[in-house]
Amino acid sequence: VTSTGAVYYLFGATGDLARRKLFPALYSLYKEGKLSNNFAVVGLARRPRSNEQFRSDLYESINEFCRYKADDEELWNAFAQHFVYMSLDINNVDGFRELNTLSCELEERFDIPGNRLFYLALAPSLFGPVSFNLRDGGMLETKGWHRLVIEKPFGYDLPSAQQLNEQLNQVFKEEEIFRIDHYLGKEMVQNIEVIRFANGFFEPLWNNNHIANVQITLSETVGVEERGGYYDKSGALRDMGQNHMLQMLTMIAMEPPSRLHGEDIRDEKVKVLRSLRGYSSSEEVRSNVVRGQYTSGQVGEKELPGYRQEDSVDEQSTTETYFAAKVFVDNFRWAGVPFYIRTGKRLPVKTTEVVVEFKSEAQNVLFAQRQKLAPNLLVIRVNPMEGIYIKINAKKPGSDNEVQPVSMEFCQSCQIGINTPEAYERLIHDAARGDSTYFTRWDEVSHAWAFVDGIAKAWQEDSSDLEFYSAGSWGPEAAVKLLDNDGFHWWPVN
Ligand code: BG6
Repeated sequence: VTSTGAVYYLFGATGDLARRKLFPALYSLYKEGKLSNNFAVVGLARRPRSNEQFRSDLYESINEFCRYKADDEELWNAFAQHFVYMSLDINNVDGFRELNTLSCELEERFDIPGNRLFYLALAPSLFGPVSFNLRDGGMLETKGWHRLVIEKPFGYDLPSAQQLNEQLNQVFKEEEIFRIDHYLGKEMVQNIEVIRFANGFFEPLWNNNHIANVQITLSETVGVEERGGYYDKSGALRDMGQNHMLQMLTMIAMEPPSRLHGEDIRDEKVKVLRSLRGYSSSEEVRSNVVRGQYTSGQVGEKELPGYRQEDSVDEQSTTETYFAAKVFVDNFRWAGVPFYIRTGKRLPVKTTEVVVEFKSEAQNVLFAQRQKLAPNLLVIRVNPMEGIYIKINAKKPGSDNEVQPVSMEFCQSCQIGINTPEAYERLIHDAARGDSTYFTRWDEVSHAWAFVDGIAKAWQEDSSDLEFYSAGSWGPEAAVKLLDNDGFHWWPVN
């Protein structure tokens, strides 16, 4: 499906996100015929840059980061002529008036019906001021649609998120605001609902009668890189927990929507967030949530620094670079089933995986005399491997009675010719078509913050539970105990 023609405004056009993700995404969409020819992209940042310089940045970014190379000269030239650059001081409304004049020219040149999409790859503190200036500079006075796409973090906690939302609401309606959680753009995250609702044999088992626990792991090998300044104020809970992890949890736990429409799906997701059991005291937080921070460690030949030695990180920092939590979804379907979620930096592998562990009491009663059976698992691999597998028990070939777990696997990334679109491609395309299914709605964001704030508050009172783990290890021991106490263990990830 081709998007309707629009002008795309990239605020923060000289930044890292534009270079690594946004330019490549636009090129892939163009190459695949998903952008209509009636489009223009205006790169905006404070730094002066000519159109030629901007197009050469674009060219480099595509050749470095895009899954397609800019090797067809004719196609490249046709694409690049849609890009212009304007230096803009976002605090000065006059610049927005100039931008409006430029926009009208572009709309005429490319025959664009006044649709405008504003992509703010900026610090969240600027979302409000930019929105006001868009309005006051006359940028929202065209006939077509206007959409605002914003990056995370959406606030720092519930009060700051509310304040931000109120600012945006003075200018944009909720349905015009597209809050990015790039995990929702990932192919396998979107596949969760298909796997669940398009098959006959998962959904009947998808409840507390049959599922023993669910484990969601988002592990990263990287440290905080050059983002120490931001990360030290944020930490793993806010950086990954409030958004990506809770969003994945909602996809696993939600009820079937009444229709496969954005609002119906988001209605179901928000019900899950509303059913999350908050922790009622600091003690409860401490016994259900583990936090850790990496210290230096040896990975292969490499000696990696500890978190407190990273650039722009406080030497005494108590910010968590890891957390694991036991979470309950208090509704009819999930009563009593623990969801264990964990994420961390400087762990041994980069992976995102969901493991659904099924109950095996009945089978173990029957086989009790012989051996303890492994439970059935459904594993959804989100990245970098994409696919699913199920673990079932079968007779060990050639043995008398021995049973062994075997895997049945669908490996999407192993399929020849599969070239999974990047999350950003999908999300930009969706925003341009006005499909907000895979963007977070305000009620989702606010419920997620309310849950996370409960943990953060207890942590702030006392940091003595912060544990340390060496870079390259699987995180604090306490995370193992968290499951051990319930008779479970983390399934190894691939
Ligand atoms: C971002 C976080 O939202 O997600 C980063 O701010 C993290 O800290 C990143 O590294 C992980 O995304 P992905 O797609 O590489 O798993």
